[in-house]
Amino acid sequence: MISINSENHPNSGSHLSLADSPSSASAITLAHLSDPHISCMHAITTRDLFSKRLFGYLRWKLVRGSGHSDRVLSVLQADLASTKPDHIAVTGDLTHLSLSAEFKKARQWLQTLGSPSTVTVIPGNHDAYVHSDWHKTMAHWTEYMLSDFPQDSEHPINSIDRIFPCLRIRGHVAIIGLCTAQPTAPHLAVGSIGAVQLSRLEKILTQTARQEYFRVLLIHHPPASGTVSWRKRLTDAPALQSLLADSGVELILHGHAHFAHQCYLKTLSGSVPVMGAPSITALDRPADRRARYYIYRISPGDDNWNVRLQVRVYSPSENRFIRKSEQQISDHQQSWGYEDGPSKGPGPHSAGGR
Ligand SMILES: [Fe+2]
Ligand SMILES: [Fe+2]
Repeated sequence: MISINSENHPNSGSHLSLADSPSSASAITLAHLSDPHISCMHAITTRDLFSKRLFGYLRWKLVRGSGHSDRVLSVLQADLASTKPDHIAVTGDLTHLSLSAEFKKARQWLQTLGSPSTVTVIPGNHDAYVHSDWHKTMAHWTEYMLSDFPQDSEHPINSIDRIFPCLRIRGHVAIIGLCTAQPTAPHLAVGSIGAVQLSRLEKILTQTARQEYFRVLLIHHPPASGTVSWRKRLTDAPALQSLLADSGVELILHGHAHFAHQCYLKTLSGSVPVMGAPSITALDRPADRRARYYIYRISPGDDNWNVRLQVRVYSPSENRFIRKSEQQISDHQQSWGYEDGPSKGPGPHSAGGR
């Protein structure tokens, strides 16, 4: 098993872009960040508070709010201008109370990250905090969530069920997004995928495996059991684990836990990294809970995938992101090697071409 964060660089302040590497001609760089919890507490009305929002509002005012700051997002924007990822994945909880004003503000933030074709968004439980009018909430992000070729594109999108799982192809990388967001009781923050999404996911994984893409699965709730407490869990994690065991996947990215997390799931593709990002607006915390983002450079090698990971962590004292570590995670035969035959799943150089 590999240790992804083992290599610390002395020149950690460098803004070297992974995409600038001379050997990266066919590489795709994918940035992963999560859980900004963009809030608009001034916009909340008394009527809004006659719901679960009351608990989220009080908790934000009394406990959580002081630990987050939107100013990190400005610093992030400047850092991304230096690191220049080809694509950015945002794994949910863009808002805090699912207020319409928060959705609008989050859209403005997304526009600073890039166009809908370069940024993929999946929602988190805070984006479905209560039952809300689609047109006042998620509709603001539709283009950032849609598949490249959405099914039933003739009819207007008016629910999350019409979007997920989404599939976006960028070079040799298939970005597959799931939605686990659902309104829950005030004390719960659970998520569910549901049978319909799982069925569609199985088809997408099979199809993209046949086409030999590097499959990146985006999901807000951690898919590995025990990562978060029972009240924050993915209720159908066992079903997803079983599906992945049969269908394989190359990399899983999640949010929700609010701490840097890595583990592995056994899949048809081998033991696959599951990587969790903390909140991108978290301040003054231990490093594993402070704002950070990840950049994966993914390129096809001779016999397996080459994946290089750079971790960039926010420094409150310097008010900028610094490179914490960089690690090659190729040559990991348990995860991305395909030399031993079909039991390891599809690979970049198996029969049929790339
Ligand atoms: Fe969150
Ligand atoms: Fe969450």
